[in-house]
Amino acid sequence: MKEHLKSPVFKTIAQVADENGNEAYVIGGFVRDLILKRPTTDIDVVVVGSGIDLAREVAKELGGLKVSVFKNFGTAMFKYRGMDIEFVGARKESYQRNSRKPIVEDGTLEDDQNRRDFTINAMALSLNEKSFGELVDPFGGLKDLEEGVIRTPLDPMVTFSDDPLRILRAIRFATQLGFRIEDKTYEGIVAQKDRLQIISMERVAEELNKMMMSERPSLGFKLLEKTGLLPMILPELQDMKGVEKVRGIGHKDNFYHTLEVLDQLVPYSDDLWLRWAALLHDIAKPRTKRFDPKLGWTFHAHNFVGMKMVPKIFKRLRLPQNEKMKFVQKMVELHMRPIVLSEDEVTDSAVRRLLFEAGDDIDSLMTLCEADITSKNEVKVRKFLRNFKLVRQKLKEIEEKDRVRNFQPPVSGEEVMKTFNLPPCQTVGEIKSAIKEAILEGEIHNDYDEARAFMLRKGKEMGLKS
Ligand code: CTP
Repeated sequence: MKEHLKSPVFKTIAQVADENGNEAYVIGGFVRDLILKRPTTDIDVVVVGSGIDLAREVAKELGGLKVSVFKNFGTAMFKYRGMDIEFVGARKESYQRNSRKPIVEDGTLEDDQNRRDFTINAMALSLNEKSFGELVDPFGGLKDLEEGVIRTPLDPMVTFSDDPLRILRAIRFATQLGFRIEDKTYEGIVAQKDRLQIISMERVAEELNKMMMSERPSLGFKLLEKTGLLPMILPELQDMKGVEKVRGIGHKDNFYHTLEVLDQLVPYSDDLWLRWAALLHDIAKPRTKRFDPKLGWTFHAHNFVGMKMVPKIFKRLRLPQNEKMKFVQKMVELHMRPIVLSEDEVTDSAVRRLLFEAGDDIDSLMTLCEADITSKNEVKVRKFLRNFKLVRQKLKEIEEKDRVRNFQPPVSGEEVMKTFNLPPCQTVGEIKSAIKEAILEGEIHNDYDEARAFMLRKGKEMGLKS
């Protein structure tokens, strides 16, 4: 592994540690990602001794870099050539970043490795001169990496009760890396799942977001469901699972459909919030589900009800309550529009209305809708995609012609008031919205002269004097 530790920082750590007679190792995620050839910018160094002292000395050697010291955590870090390098003393206790407990730096390397979360995260590479680059892997982490296995180094009951966030981390790593969770570790997750309740929602959401950003987020949500964790995190998603039948007529399982949509979206967008929109686009289907003897299963207005459910879900998960959330709401609300458009004849006015409502998010909406096609019938899928292509084409043409994407009224309220000598009142609003409607319907172009002429006609109709 020597050849991978090329950065001069490792040589400097080796020198300083040797001079002080300390053992030092690079450990954890950095080693795992090095072997997997995944890019990383975080380096964790563990020293048998004081991490803070070592960080200070190494930073001095490297030309007096600024060190941030976190006394409570017993850690210190500095930045070097775009990398965050964190130093910590080997410890006997569980390795918890956010723990408020004072840290006792009295462990050996072995103690430290014992208290880490998974075998693949417990590997260390020696940084001392004599053994530079040697792998210290007491739990077979390398083998687990090769075989694609998530396994706790100790009895899973111990590892998970040390820090219940690890229950979610196991599922998150399995999702990100496409790994299998070893049987005993899996049983540990199920047995201790209720302990997740003591973990803050911020940290839960952080793990969920990492799952969302993986190549196959569905793996994570299926695991959350199978282990029984999902009702604690996203009960609304759990409610989507299952198929109800009336008179032998069933509907599709909306849980699996949703996950398919999410996976299908991944290659086309790495926008976390669009992925959230995919996860939540049908979230109100269970609440709006009815069986109609004539129509079969219906989910009337599930887009509107779903849009209204988003803020509560975001609040619970401590996700942002800002324009990101509004974007997700908008996507949920509008997610059926392009499909309806593509089923009917694509009229200019329908396209204009969609452009007006979606604004700059129109491309995201189209991407979501294309991912929403999960039919197994190839012919159907091709037909839908062809129609969507047509809708996209039409969107482009209309936008070039009418510029309604970020609609600004061509005639202002002030002009309406001045023309008809009106005070601010309802009539002004009526005239303005009549102009907007005329543009969206295609009666007039989105153009000042046409809009002014329309306004004068409209005023006359209403008995106003200009
Ligand atoms: N760790 C742990 N238990 C936790 C969190 C972290 O044992 N609950 C240990 C693991 O050895 C992990 C290391 O601390 O490799 C660094 O943690 P962190 O930076 O959170 O995760 P990474 O493994 O580096 O992975 P990622 O950056 O993807 O979160």
